[in-house]
Amino acid sequence: MTASTKDILAAAIRSIPDYPKPGIIFRDITTLLGDAAAFRLAVDELVKPYEGLGVDKIAGMEARGFILGGAMAHQLSAGFVPIRKKGKLPYRTVSMAYALEYGTDEMEIHVDAVKPGEKVILCDDLIATGGTAVGAVKLLRQIGAEVVSACFVIDLPDLGGRKNLEALGVEVRTLAE
Ligand code: PRP
Ligand code: ADE
Repeated sequence: MTASTKDILAAAIRSIPDYPKPGIIFRDITTLLGDAAAFRLAVDELVKPYEGLGVDKIAGMEARGFILGGAMAHQLSAGFVPIRKKGKLPYRTVSMAYALEYGTDEMEIHVDAVKPGEKVILCDDLIATGGTAVGAVKLLRQIGAEVVSACFVIDLPDLGGRKNLEALGVEVRTLAE
């Protein structure tokens, strides 16, 4: 990825101070999603390293991971697996409590969302502490997935998420800071 690609993506993301809590600088991707050229660029850059690898499924975290992950799945001709906040999935699930930069929550996945050994890539808009992504990798492994890699548009490196995910043996790819 060229420096200018990184700059274009960074410039398309809006920062909102003190949201949702005092002291948090919220990185708002709605501005990137609403900019046709920036949205395409982000999805193209996210899928590039995975083309031709025979990826079976993209797993996206609710809610922003659905938008980017859905677009990635379409472009890679892969399936899509939603990892949802507790109580939203209708069939049998496995669940996991987790902490993130500004709170705690619980996520779930359908028990039959992947077949044993399927190659899955995790996708979300942003990695901060990595609490959400680490929980998602554990859920995916619990139902038999091979988590090949995890990708994010934004990395907040001071919060250590990349290291936490790499400690689980997962490759991490990000586009901007
Ligand atoms: C945000 C973001 C990631 C997570 C990252 O989601 O989209 O999923 O936080 O934080 P972490 O690395 O510290 O875990 P949020 O839970 O706010 O949900 P939303 O997409 O529904 O707004
Ligand atoms: N998720 C966790 N931290 C975040 C931040 N600073 N901006 C947007 N989403 C987030």
